[in-house]
Amino acid sequence: MEKKRWIERSARLALATSALAVCATAAALPPSAAMLTNACAGCHGTLGASAGLTMPSLAGQSKEAIVDAMKKFKSGERPSTVMGRLAKGYTDADFAAMGGFYAGQKLHMTQQTVDPKRVAKGASLQESSCARCHIEDGKEGKADTPAMAGQWLPYLQMQMAMYMQGTRKMPDEMAEKVKPLSADDIESLLHFYANVK
Ligand code: HEC
Ligand code: HEC
Repeated sequence: MEKKRWIERSARLALATSALAVCATAAALPPSAAMLTNACAGCHGTLGASAGLTMPSLAGQSKEAIVDAMKKFKSGERPSTVMGRLAKGYTDADFAAMGGFYAGQKLHMTQQTVDPKRVAKGASLQESSCARCHIEDGKEGKADTPAMAGQWLPYLQMQMAMYMQGTRKMPDEMAEKVKPLSADDIESLLHFYANVK
């Protein structure tokens, strides 16, 4: 009788200890990039191909661009509707893992209808105005410059409006290039980038 109780107790103890060990292992391992980015898929789409007009696609953006954006959202330097609150829950190491994950995907080209006249005008302006940093028709970006090719037009328009109002700080050298352009020039450039396939 005594022996049976002892066996039951040891069995319970062993179970409890192994459960603890499993928890400890899970806590010690950093979450994988795929686990982290599950939290982003609801808005930025499965694998970063956004289906929402105001949500940018992240697939194929450079790691630098994503890390830079996340840090600016977290510090509040870059204005946002949701990203500021969200970014506060993550560390720099998480940002690097997420950035690496999206940088490894193929750039996503959104299917959308834009104004062909504006696309043509934008095409004639982009080389001299924007291509120094928004490289290869916006498929790539210099250093932490985000990709714009195939991005949702409404998203690009919203971000540009924030730059023009001064709520999002435009990089100085980009501001120099934007300054001489008319509102129609800028709108045309955004149509051009949104239309890149
Ligand atoms: C509730 C919807 C939502 C979720 C969830 C979400 N985002 Fe966002 N994200 C947005 C919106 C909207 C923007 C545009 C900025 C804003 O208004 O917050 C954005 C912008 C961004 C940008 C800027 C891209 C660019 O081209 O400049 C990055 C990077 C980003 N999100 C990364 C993430 C990551 C990583 C996660 C997962 C941890 C995530 N987001 C989760 C809605 C979301
Ligand atoms: C000197 C480099 C440079 C030049 C030239 C430049 N940009 Fe940018 N652009 C950047 C950088 C860097 C960012 C991201 C900066 C930030 O954190 O806000 C950016 C961001 C943007 C964004 C926001 C994209 C997003 O996903 O958040 C738009 C829109 C944009 N640029 C449009 C333009 C247009 C149009 C031109 C040409 C008139 C231009 N840029 C010229 C460097 C440049």
